[in-house]
Amino acid sequence: MPAFSATAPGKIILFGEHAVVYGRPAIAVPVDKVRARATVIPEPRAASGSVRIQAVDIGLDQLISELPADNPLAAAVHAVFRAVGIQRSPAFTLRISSTIPQAAGMGSGAAVSVAAIRAVAAFLGRLLTDEQVSDLAYEVEKLYHGTPSGIDNTVITHNMPIYYVRSQPIQLLQVRQSFWLVIGDTGIKSPTSIAVGELRQAWQASPLIYEPLFDRVGEITQLARRSIENGESRDLGPLMDENHTLLQQMGVSSPELDRLCQVARQAGALGAKLSGGGRGGNMIAVAAEENAPQVAQALRAESAVRTITVRIK
Ligand code: PMV
Repeated sequence: MPAFSATAPGKIILFGEHAVVYGRPAIAVPVDKVRARATVIPEPRAASGSVRIQAVDIGLDQLISELPADNPLAAAVHAVFRAVGIQRSPAFTLRISSTIPQAAGMGSGAAVSVAAIRAVAAFLGRLLTDEQVSDLAYEVEKLYHGTPSGIDNTVITHNMPIYYVRSQPIQLLQVRQSFWLVIGDTGIKSPTSIAVGELRQAWQASPLIYEPLFDRVGEITQLARRSIENGESRDLGPLMDENHTLLQQMGVSSPELDRLCQVARQAGALGAKLSGGGRGGNMIAVAAEENAPQVAQALRAESAVRTITVRIK
């Protein structure tokens, strides 16, 4: 019997993380160099309803019936069953693998969900629209993040640069002239839910401090959108620097992230900021094509455990 496979890219947020949870816009792009893959292998000899989930990267090999209901992979499978109205599916094994760094702000959870949802739906002979896939992945995202904005599942499902406002229809972004990003990983695992939860508490205690920060991030994101659509990517550098300062003021940066941003700027980047949940995970720098290799080199020489250089187009 043939297997059914689907893949999904990683992602990186260029502008607007955290503020996006509070209704301000954000910009995110897919990162194709890292991907999640899901493969459904039919098991015609196993009893119907038997579903095994194998994810070697996290040492998981278990029947879905043995997993807690809030296991994200089990939740993705159940979400598809509900969406297509299936009570008992033919037996299968769902195999997951991913080259997307985990807990690093690159959307590994959402990418695994999107790939799994598409592979399981294909196995069941159902075609889901991108909106359906994204909505189902969002349900699973809630298990990882608590109060996700929905940006990860949206950009990963559509696999295109997006300008995203929570609960609004997706807006694809036209990149007039391609530009280069260097992604640097601090190697510090930092679950997004913790940074998001702590910022929520701080905002609840002092909304008058945090609302203006979110407002300015929203303005920066709008300016960045204009620069990207007009092909003026040099303008993104100062906007990134200012967005990073605002994220520092929100309390979601870290000495390591600050240091890597500084090193990137010293190595010739046009600007730099943390990306994603913060505290650890990744930072990004925008650089002219000819400078990108030296920025990447400087980040690794400092303390980055990995750099990924991508052309945004
Ligand atoms: O890049 P990640 O997966 O760490 O996402 C974080 C983005 C936040 O704005 C901090 C949270 C969200 O749900 O949008």
